[in-house]
Amino acid sequence: MKTFREPKKLQTYCRRQKLAGKKIALVPTMGYLHEGHLSLIETAKRKGADEIVVSVFVNPVQFGPNEDYDKYPRDEKADLAKCRAAGATAVFFPTPANMYLDRHSVYVNEEDLSRGLCGARRPGHFRGVCTVVAKLFNLAHPDFAVFGQKDYQQAQIIRRMVRDLNFDLDVVVAPIVREPSGLARSSRNTYLSAKEKEMALAISRSLKAPKSVKGIEKELSAAGLKVDYVECVDAETLEPRRKIGPGTCVLVAAYCGKTRLIDNRVF
Ligand code: PAF
Repeated sequence: MKTFREPKKLQTYCRRQKLAGKKIALVPTMGYLHEGHLSLIETAKRKGADEIVVSVFVNPVQFGPNEDYDKYPRDEKADLAKCRAAGATAVFFPTPANMYLDRHSVYVNEEDLSRGLCGARRPGHFRGVCTVVAKLFNLAHPDFAVFGQKDYQQAQIIRRMVRDLNFDLDVVVAPIVREPSGLARSSRNTYLSAKEKEMALAISRSLKAPKSVKGIEKELSAAGLKVDYVECVDAETLEPRRKIGPGTCVLVAAYCGKTRLIDNRVF
């Protein structure tokens, strides 16, 4: 497995692999890899990628000033071992300084799907995500890139970016991976105490057979969580829908103590 830190080196390598006819998959991550990420690598393998490039980069541009950029968990050694064991062929560990050069001034803004949900609560978040993902696409030349459904809005926005900016690649969205308890896997789960983990189960439970948004909100509040939002939207356009039913997606963001967790279910 190859390791790259310099964007240019990754780009040269991937261009060569592409010219040699290799099918390249990109798995963008922020590291502290868990089963959810490994399932993305697994998906890339199943789809016949010859090169599986995993990027590990806690992207400062997608964090707000009061968010958890500094304390976001990092473990480069463990991530390398996990990538190797999972069958990645290359890992990209850039630094903020070599991803964002002095006076970096070009950003990618998606202006429709990112208006609501997490986009409304985390101003600038999807601008940061789109920018870094566009850069990663330009560096890795992937035939396809794999994202997790847990970040449902993100996946829809990336699809739109690929369509609207004519990136020549497919976006693959892999299902949410859950802990046996039902809790959606997330690097941020490491912030939770045992008691908070128990409380957090209300999120996946509330999405099992929800009757209404109000019902979910009640269930989350009763479990001691602070609701950031619960919304039912059209699964494609992300426009609000009144009734949970086929073609809709219900998305939840809630604070468990200080930790903000998200989950969703498509109907
Ligand atoms: O989903 C994530 O971990 C990040 O938003 C991504 C796609 C790696 C961009 O930094």
